[in-house]
Amino acid sequence: MTTTIEPLGSQVGAEVRGLDRERLLTDDTLGDAVLDALETYGVLVFRDLHLDPETQVAFCRRLGEIDTEPGHHPVPGIYRVSLDTTKNSSASYLRATFDWHIDGCTPQDDAYPQKATMLTAKAVAERGGETEFASTYKAFDTLSDEEKQRFATLRVVHSLEASQRLVTPDPSPEQLAAWRRRPSKEHPLIWTHKSGRRSLVLGASTDHVVGMDPDESRALLDDLLRRCTTPERVYRHEWSVGDTVLWDNRGVIHRAAPYDPDSPREMLRTTVLGDEPIR
Ligand code: OGA
Ligand code: MN
Repeated sequence: MTTTIEPLGSQVGAEVRGLDRERLLTDDTLGDAVLDALETYGVLVFRDLHLDPETQVAFCRRLGEIDTEPGHHPVPGIYRVSLDTTKNSSASYLRATFDWHIDGCTPQDDAYPQKATMLTAKAVAERGGETEFASTYKAFDTLSDEEKQRFATLRVVHSLEASQRLVTPDPSPEQLAAWRRRPSKEHPLIWTHKSGRRSLVLGASTDHVVGMDPDESRALLDDLLRRCTTPERVYRHEWSVGDTVLWDNRGVIHRAAPYDPDSPREMLRTTVLGDEPIR
């Protein structure tokens, strides 16, 4: 079986065809090839792969160290993404996936943002629940020279509160206190990666630009996010059961289109840990 990679539009994403479970488990060259493709395309779509959780975890180990914190699922290395509180007791936090974000911008500790995330669809929503992606490398590249210069020294505070407030605008005092127990994090607006490429650090966790008037700060962050995610820059994945999608969490932002909390939608996620700080 030959493997092909077909870009999904001009901005972000490619579909990989011609791989199966057996290849994922046995081909020792595949990890590096997939990481290269991820750097180029930002998002890789593998339709109809029907990965079992153990194979998903085993393959992701070829991409780097993976997160094995308990994830509401019996297989270590799998986190169950579902809004159903009987399937995931932390489901209420996952409503924040409805807004554009980078995973891991406000970690509990000093962890670096995740390198990559894999989702496999176990059950899909009847309506909504597509996952959308936009390249933050492209967002940087399309700034004017004047903007690149003006933004070069800006720093942005990220907080869990900022992202949770968007979906829960009137938190109870307990909720608010829980959000605030998570330390906020300061990141540069422009991330200069080890590779030398530069991207913008955007999304729901952006609280404010350090030292800027609050209204001006909000307007700037909102404008940059809007420009990064205009419809022609977005790849929207419409899920079928058995699809797997892998994204570069350092060079794309993502969000889920809203879906009903009663929907059966269930995604199995594996997170490849990061080895590079935002700087
Ligand atoms: C995530 C996430 C999006 C989705 O798991 O980090 O943002 O479509 N998921 O479920
Ligand atoms: Mn996410």
